[in-house]
Amino acid sequence: MDKSEPIRVRVPATTANCGPGFDTLGIACNIYNELELILLKDETLDITISGEGTSYLPVNEKNLIWKVIKKLLELTKAPYKGAIIKMHNNIPLSRGLGSSAAAISAGILAVNYALGEPFGKQEIFELAAEIEGHPDNVAPVIFGGMTTSLTYKDKVKTFSFIPKIPLKMVVAVPEFFLATKKAREVLPVNISVKDAAFNIGHVSSLVAAMCMGNTEVLTYAFEDKLHQPYRADLIPGMYDVFAAAKHAGALGAAISGAGPSLIAFTIENETTIGQAMVDTFAKHKIDSHYLILDIDKKGACRI
Ligand code: HSE
Repeated sequence: MDKSEPIRVRVPATTANCGPGFDTLGIACNIYNELELILLKDETLDITISGEGTSYLPVNEKNLIWKVIKKLLELTKAPYKGAIIKMHNNIPLSRGLGSSAAAISAGILAVNYALGEPFGKQEIFELAAEIEGHPDNVAPVIFGGMTTSLTYKDKVKTFSFIPKIPLKMVVAVPEFFLATKKAREVLPVNISVKDAAFNIGHVSSLVAAMCMGNTEVLTYAFEDKLHQPYRADLIPGMYDVFAAAKHAGALGAAISGAGPSLIAFTIENETTIGQAMVDTFAKHKIDSHYLILDIDKKGACRI
């Protein structure tokens, strides 16, 4: 055979950090990208993209999914050198909803199926986290639900669970891109013990509240001192949008991942909250739209 059987996979969007859980917390959300992959023995590369990012994403050897696929083929010494790749994207690009983690995970997962599953889920997670550089988006992509991640003896570990509250996420997606690299460059190299302790208190309370179903704790657990204050200048109106979301009934609000999208966590009033966030962005001359999302419980899968 000069080509593999077609493999189709589906990967969820993700929101990382959830306020105080910088590089640690993530939640899988119910919007998805789909990838169809056929591996080829010759060096042909044929990439087609529909949906989000169609006019920005490269369709040549610079394409992120192809780079991931190529890396995996080399790693496994598989007898394939080319591919037919069809992507359909629903996840907004470079907006803080894990589009790169979704692409990386989709590539790894599809190759893994095409090669007869040489890697298990944990290995797929480790490979994806290594390529992405931090585990907080790839963990919920692969495992679904809400995830806490850490690195232990140079290995990423994650724990996935389903919060015990009917959590909805309202995401205000502004009409501008913010590269994660840029949003990480503004972060300080050192932080004070006081700020570290503030975040430890908040993130541990947040996870405990999610597990116990305590919405009262969630009204103050989304605060952060490690990254959001430094990123505020990159997202005009950030604190006002947070305040508007809370005023409209959200439990709390945060930057989604590295931004620029802002996310409100709630159990009610989703449309009022979304409209309040969009209206407040508009007061700062930022066009945006909002999405109402649920938690994806399954994570990446073959379809
Ligand atoms: N934890 C990462 C950050 C998420 O905040 O930079 C970006 O995808």
